Amino acid sequence: MELSGKHIVVGITGGIAAYKSASLVRLFVKAGAEVQVVMTPNAREFITPVTLSTLSGKPVISDFFTANTGEWHSHVDLGLWADAFVVAPATASTIAKMANGVADNMLVTSYLSTRAQVFVAPAMDFDMMRHPSTTRNIATLSSDGCIIIEPAEGELASHLVGKGRMEEPETIFKTVAAFIKQNNIKENNSLDDVYINKNALAGKHVIVTAGPTRERLDPVRYISNYSTGKMGVAIADEAMRRGAQSVTLVLGPCEARPSEPGIKIVNVESAREMLSACLDNFDSCDIGIMCAAVADYAIENPADKKIKRENTAVPDFKFAKNPDIAATLGERKRNDQILVGFALETDHELENAAGKMKRKNLDMIVMNSLRDKGAGFATDTNKVTIFTSDGKASAFGLKDKHAVASDIWDTICVKFQCSEN
Ligand code: PMT
Repeated sequence: MELSGKHIVVGITGGIAAYKSASLVRLFVKAGAEVQVVMTPNAREFITPVTLSTLSGKPVISDFFTANTGEWHSHVDLGLWADAFVVAPATASTIAKMANGVADNMLVTSYLSTRAQVFVAPAMDFDMMRHPSTTRNIATLSSDGCIIIEPAEGELASHLVGKGRMEEPETIFKTVAAFIKQNNIKENNSLDDVYINKNALAGKHVIVTAGPTRERLDPVRYISNYSTGKMGVAIADEAMRRGAQSVTLVLGPCEARPSEPGIKIVNVESAREMLSACLDNFDSCDIGIMCAAVADYAIENPADKKIKRENTAVPDFKFAKNPDIAATLGERKRNDQILVGFALETDHELENAAGKMKRKNLDMIVMNSLRDKGAGFATDTNKVTIFTSDGKASAFGLKDKHAVASDIWDTICVKFQCSEN
């Protein structure tokens, strides 16, 4: 069965389309998934919990506590249990709460705690749907990493005709199932994954590359890129916080500096210098993370004096291919070493990242795409999908680069069981 062993949270909110959620739950269950239904208090006015608990085979959760026993429902456990988190129907009110972190019910609280991919299927009246406030909130959810399953056009509960009908359960099911299949989403997010031993890197030697490289044209000019070093520096800081014995940061020219004391910084300028610093440090390291944006080409014939506009023709520079640092280390890697690369993409993200991981003999690759607002170069945030060489992938929402660094180390520690203990 295509979703066998997968955990799906189905969040139901108070709208007329809530009756369709029963079919959605049924489709997930039929495909082999374990389904936990979470209802907002208003949703219970539209469909009974008995229907949903019968279909899912589990008691429906709607409050923080079970009234008669006082049993507490942990929104954190629920959020982390999920492989996919589907809110269908999503009313304007719940969308607004999710977009603004208003955690006043079990559904929104679980949403804020989940690490799973979130799917949102809006359903509301036509005018509510096109209101600037709803449009803004949906855009926020989208940039936070939620996949929006756009509503269809048709006759609405108000008898007005327009966009606002929740997409059919079959379409929502297919979207979620295709995502899970395509990304081979790991059965992650168990509590074991979460309570990471903060000393998990004790005894480990780590090397991280960060920032851009510069390739000289003449003594005053160079070719480079927009990397600020923020992502790589956050990774180095997080390694130190998790108790690494040593962290070497090979840093291209940028302003970012680590805040944790004890990190050894090796400043480099060009890709060749970066390779040489990596080769000096790689054999003695346990884990290498290649986050630098390395120029793929150097200038073969840089001028040794400043090129003057007045007395030269257009310079005749020749490009030479730079070494691929990650691939060089990948060839050299021993079985007891872990090598992680990054992939910065603008298109065909999944295939390109998987291809790079294989070609460079990496154990894991962290993909960020310039198509995602707030991701990649020069921002304080990033949005990544992490692929591991066993073919699994985990997609994360838009987060501060420190939180992304933490997700990266969580994944490494769980996947490769880093801890000495
Ligand atoms: O520094 P910030 O402003 O915070 O931005 C962060 C970032 C966007 C630079 C970072 O998140 C990122 O994506 N870094 C990798 C950028 C990149 O060069 O990606 P790539 O897809 O071209 O390279 C793939 C991998 O090969 C990377 O691990 C890269 O370090 C490595 N590489 C690339 C070329 C080369 N000649 N040698 C390499 O080792």
